[in-house]
Amino acid sequence: MLTLPHLKKNAMKLATKFIHAGVEPDPSTGAIMTPVYQTSTYVQEAPGKNKGYEYARSQNPTRFALEKALAEIENGNYGLAFSSGVAATDAVIKLLKPGDEVIAGNDMYGGTYRLFTKVFEKFGIVFKYVNMQQAENISPLISNNTRLIWTETPTNPLMNITDIAAVAAIAKRHNILLCVDNTFATPYLQNPLELGADIVMHSVTKYLGGHSDVIQGSLSLNDQNLRDQLYFIQKSCGAVPGPQDCFLVLRGIKTLHVRMQRHCENGEKIAYFLREHAKVGKVYWPGFEDHPNHSIAKKQMRGFGGMISFELKDDSMDAVMKVLTSTKLFALAESLGGVESLINHPASMTHASIPREERIKNGLKDSLIRLSVGIEDADDLINDLKQAIG
Ligand SMILES: Cc1ncc(COP(=O)(O)O)c(C=O)c1O
Repeated sequence: MLTLPHLKKNAMKLATKFIHAGVEPDPSTGAIMTPVYQTSTYVQEAPGKNKGYEYARSQNPTRFALEKALAEIENGNYGLAFSSGVAATDAVIKLLKPGDEVIAGNDMYGGTYRLFTKVFEKFGIVFKYVNMQQAENISPLISNNTRLIWTETPTNPLMNITDIAAVAAIAKRHNILLCVDNTFATPYLQNPLELGADIVMHSVTKYLGGHSDVIQGSLSLNDQNLRDQLYFIQKSCGAVPGPQDCFLVLRGIKTLHVRMQRHCENGEKIAYFLREHAKVGKVYWPGFEDHPNHSIAKKQMRGFGGMISFELKDDSMDAVMKVLTSTKLFALAESLGGVESLINHPASMTHASIPREERIKNGLKDSLIRLSVGIEDADDLINDLKQAIG
């Protein structure tokens, strides 16, 4: 780090780290922000004689600055950026070969489930799904072919918590890779690599970008061999983000801590407002003391975030639709993690790709409503929900 050369990355406090991660003054001009290197190729002096940059699918200075930041914010050695969150997940699964097995959580983002079942199963990768709220549920599914454990925590949309350290211990014992989708928590709240995970995946589209203007994904990790394999997949398969998007994410990361602090504060106020509302049924938020894995959330997270799901006591679709279409500040949209608040219907939107019977079996009711609480004024958000719920 240019501005703080005496500080090691792990020694820096979060706010300092997020502001300075990956960014050094541009060597050609001193520009404090990494320029957008909008180029597809680089001029070479002679074949193979170049400045380390040959072709922009393999190397781009804006992307490299971001990848350095993605490593630093997760306290890892390496970061890799992809053109979307699912492209990052896709790269991890491409480490495997036919016959290899993956154990995955039974409650996760619908697009991850779709990628596993609709794309990779036909290439002979075997996926087994399990409730990861108890780490010991994983052990009976492990075979000699198990190569990867995939978990999301908190999960999308039921806010279930996986004990990362406990799962990592099982994975290590059996020499299995553990990848944690850290999208909901962000490195502000949780650092899976420090809890023993091998790879941290993000839908950067969400909190890291933070402003609902970029689609991007990332992997952060420590092991150089694994990084080399994933870099090979990144450049061979080509799902790289463009430099303008990398620039926007570099900028987004600088305010992650301030935004997350407000997401957490607003999230807590809204979670308690919903819980006390006469027309609201179950509220899913890991900050509640009676959340089934609250103690684990408290142990591995620094706060509980701004993602909340809830059901109405009247769980008819008419009542649910009324709420979904009546909010004025909460915009009805897929995605999450931006500064503006969003309301979503997982069963018909983000999780529609999971068959209904699977969703219901895993606790995702048709009537579930998911909120991404933004950083607007909490009173305005509460008033909006009040008028929509009635
Ligand atoms: C938890 C989680 N993981 C992964 C993804 C996929 O990311 P992207 O939409 O950036 O491809 C999403 C998207 O909603 C998500 O919520």
